[in-house]
Amino acid sequence: MENIKIIPYNKKYFSDTRTICYETSTSYHTPERAPILWGLYHDWYVLNSPETCFVAVNEKDTAVGYILCAPDIEKYTRENPNNHYESYRKYAKDYPAHLHIDILPAYQGHGLGGKLLDALYKKLGSMGIKGIHLTCGKHKLNAIKFYEKHGYKLLDSNDSSNLVFGLNLGIALGLMPTRKGA
Ligand SMILES: CC(C)(COP(=O)(O)OP(=O)(O)OC[C@H]1O[C@@H](n2cnc3c(N)ncnc32)[C@H](O)[C@@H]1OP(=O)(O)O)[C@@H](O)C(=O)NCCC(=O)NCCS
Repeated sequence: MENIKIIPYNKKYFSDTRTICYETSTSYHTPERAPILWGLYHDWYVLNSPETCFVAVNEKDTAVGYILCAPDIEKYTRENPNNHYESYRKYAKDYPAHLHIDILPAYQGHGLGGKLLDALYKKLGSMGIKGIHLTCGKHKLNAIKFYEKHGYKLLDSNDSSNLVFGLNLGIALGLMPTRKGA
């Protein structure tokens, strides 16, 4: 595969990362629903917490993947009062951060996901954040395998469509040097 760099998010990638969000979405993949999609899963993160967002950039300086993170679920739900994440405040104590990760299909399965996780973990580690959670559609079997492979623990499977996974970052940072391809 071509040379791909993992770098901190920069606002020049805004339209690339919106495209990645749209192209990898199954539930909101229509032009009418795209603004809802970006409101839920993209814009707040890059506009309000760019320092905890990273992109995978190809040789043409186009972002082909991202990891977006809100480091504090309490702050996030205060600033997004109508957002569905309200119900995840119960994870604030042990897993205060949450993430979204997406990679364009042509770039999946080459280890970029693991490298994006590592870049984020280093940043969150430097901020003293001890845990992270995420939600994943029950039908996303590849993504579930990916999270389990990277040490995520199932926290909740009661919701009809989503699973919630969590990771202790102390453990994740300890594991990083041994990760294949990282
Ligand atoms: C899930 C995702 C972030 C994983 O990143 P990735 O760079 O493709 O994954 P990596 O190469 O680092 O790791 C590959 C592992 O993840 C899993 N995997 C997930 N998606 C895969 C894909 N499309 N092709 C191959 N493996 C995939 C496999 O279990 C694989 O393990 P293996 O190497 O032991 O077979 C990425 O595939 C993606 O963006 N998928 C579509 C959008 C999505 O589902 N996002 C998560 C929403 S909850």
